[in-house]
Amino acid sequence: MIQAVKGMRDILPPSSGVWNEVEAAARQVFHRFNYREIRTPLLEETALFARGVGEETDIVSKEMYTFDDRDGSSLTLRPENTASVLRAYVEHRLDQQPGLQKLYYIGPMFRRERPQKGRYRQFFQIGAEAIGADSPAVDAEAIELAVAILEAAGISGFELLINSVGSKESRAKYNEALRAELKEVAPQMCEDCRRRAETNPLRVLDCKVPGDQPIIEKLPSILDFLDHDDKEHFRRVREFLDDRHIVYTIKPRLVRGLDYYMRTTFEITHGALGAQNAILGGGRYDGLAETIGSKVPAPGIGFSIGEDRLVMAVEETGKSKVAPLDLYIAPMGDTALRHCAVLAGEIRKLNLSVEVGTDRKLKRMLELANKLEARFTLILGDNDIVSQAYSLKNMATGEQETLSRAALIDRLKNNG
Ligand code: HAM
Repeated sequence: MIQAVKGMRDILPPSSGVWNEVEAAARQVFHRFNYREIRTPLLEETALFARGVGEETDIVSKEMYTFDDRDGSSLTLRPENTASVLRAYVEHRLDQQPGLQKLYYIGPMFRRERPQKGRYRQFFQIGAEAIGADSPAVDAEAIELAVAILEAAGISGFELLINSVGSKESRAKYNEALRAELKEVAPQMCEDCRRRAETNPLRVLDCKVPGDQPIIEKLPSILDFLDHDDKEHFRRVREFLDDRHIVYTIKPRLVRGLDYYMRTTFEITHGALGAQNAILGGGRYDGLAETIGSKVPAPGIGFSIGEDRLVMAVEETGKSKVAPLDLYIAPMGDTALRHCAVLAGEIRKLNLSVEVGTDRKLKRMLELANKLEARFTLILGDNDIVSQAYSLKNMATGEQETLSRAALIDRLKNNG
């Protein structure tokens, strides 16, 4: 028996219906905020992520699906999409377009993590990137957008965490302070922390090992290392959020697991998700474009929602309602079956969903109509066609009426 690859799942109905609803809600909100869709390839040159996301991050150092193509070039299945969107922005000179480039994407990402509830090796993100400005107003609008999508998807009770990781310069100073402090304490920490204490001290703050947490709590706070401009930027982001009545908690340890961030970082967590409780993460990444070889600066901010986790949270609320079947037709006999197929086609043109039964036993067809939660059932025998008598049953009320073909179509149209 061949099964799906570990950590990669099939998304089956009825859950796929919830996925569709979540995506439709997101697209509507993106439209309201003037975001347009970008689709980038699933495969990129490995160097894009190595440079963009950072060699020392977990994503690049242990989680990428990388392989040599037949011509020897190294390719990687995208572990995230911000680097790809920036690559596309630079490659197509989108900086030449008027205004901000506000782009969104929905699609699969690949990370070879240890699978568990809410964590998969192929997972989906709904993401947004606003490129072309470093104004704190753009940060606040991006956060407002993230919150609006979660609300449109039907979830509440989430928590917004924000932080500033400063500019490259203030982060360099913070890194030095961390490095000095870690010299003392790193020997008592996990192996990853001991290595990162040397190579990339900031990443120590991402460590999830419980034993290391008391040590991490005592490390210096990045907020004490922000320079005047960083502090002012962060103050204004908060001011814009306050104006919008968006509630947040400042979390100075929120440095996020990707190296491209500067200044604003944020995450939204949700209680229903268990250990993998981050439903989305994002932040500002001025300088990323230059890291991947652009001569043109492209300051930007964005976020990615973990769609698997969002769907899980929506399903937990129990409020998701997948559109029911409008009509189940049970044909009794061969003439009826031929007739039903044409009738179904006509009703489907009214944008109603129709299923035509194929069983020979009426009882079984009616059981199925019930299971499919059909709103109406139509039982049609060969004689009924001749006499133009269509008996339509409203499954909610149990009411049954005999109608002409024209009246039947009218009834369905008005109840659609
Ligand atoms: P990230 O924090 O790596 O950021 O991922 C964002 C979200 O994707 C997470 O909060 C989580 O919900 C979901 N996610 C990540 N890994 C998995 C997984 N293995 N299984 C299920 N869900 C997962 C980024 O990817 C950045 N590109 C976000 C961003 C956009 N920053 C700026 N623009």
